[in-house]
Amino acid sequence: MADFSPLICDWYRLNKRDLPWRDTDNPYFIWLSEIILQQTRVEQGMNYYLKFIRNYPSIVDLANATEQEVLNDWQGLGYYSRARNLHFTAKYVCEHFDGVFPKSYEEILNLKGIGTYTAAAVSSFAFSLPHAVLDGNVFRVLSRFFDISTAIDSSEGKKDFNTLAQDLLPINNASEHNQAIMEFGAMFCKPVNPDCLNCVLNSSCLAFKNQSVQNRPVKVGKIKVKKRFFHYFIVFDGENIILSKRTNKDIWQHLFEFPMIETDSEISLAEINEFSENNYNQTCGIDFIEKKHVLSHQHIFATFSIINVSALDQEMCNDKQQIVKINALTDFPLPRLIDRFLELNWNNIRK
Ligand code: ADE
Repeated sequence: MADFSPLICDWYRLNKRDLPWRDTDNPYFIWLSEIILQQTRVEQGMNYYLKFIRNYPSIVDLANATEQEVLNDWQGLGYYSRARNLHFTAKYVCEHFDGVFPKSYEEILNLKGIGTYTAAAVSSFAFSLPHAVLDGNVFRVLSRFFDISTAIDSSEGKKDFNTLAQDLLPINNASEHNQAIMEFGAMFCKPVNPDCLNCVLNSSCLAFKNQSVQNRPVKVGKIKVKKRFFHYFIVFDGENIILSKRTNKDIWQHLFEFPMIETDSEISLAEINEFSENNYNQTCGIDFIEKKHVLSHQHIFATFSIINVSALDQEMCNDKQQIVKINALTDFPLPRLIDRFLELNWNNIRK
């Protein structure tokens, strides 16, 4: 146990990636990077991080932006509640902390969008506070090094791993230790086929000794994936198109999409046409495009029906919908499903 942190920190110093958020102790930059990296790989998150610190060099700049600007800059990253919470928290820090990022673990944990992992990461990286991070990488490294068979998604597992992670943390080297264990998990102690023979920890790794590396960590349940069926109507005339704002507490809240109906199972073209006739006085014809969009807890089966009308009319819109210029579509934050759909199909649709 005593050699765990020195070994992993030695490995880190020799092998760490040069990442921009590691060159700073600015808590705003570190917080931003952690929110981006919550559900995003480093390679994908990097450009977004650089764009955000360029467009919003301080938390005050972020607070002063509109939500739509922030969502637009976030476009393509997914999990948009992260961007909304980011913006909310920037405004909150300006209002309640005079624009200075709070310095205590408890105050950081209280901020919207920040859970125990992110609070530990920000408070240790920015302020060297002794709070151990516990993310998927850390669970994997610890469950292997100590050959722990308690499920990491059970309440007992969460408690035990938390205690262990905290016990291993050297009080005077919290930042480096936390970075090191996460980096080691991400780059070396990988989920599948880790290179145990060349691992600097293998002489003390219990799972290596017991040949249980591939069975660690243990998990109890897989999350059930929900199927949803979205039927979109692309209603446009020569210059304009109808957009609809998602307002419910659901995926993509505050983003824009096309008018749609959602069902629990597939529906027929006849049913889609019925909706189209009732709302837009014409059927969709044969233009009918299907796509599957995979989110972590849900699979969305989307269809897109094309309705080219001679002139759009406000009567065709409900209170969440508006007629916008086709040329201005990119000014609206769109879910990745819609954005990709337009990228791939719009030129054909307009013909
Ligand atoms: N994933 C989450 N936080 C990270 C960090 N600070 N560096 C690299 N990967 C990360």
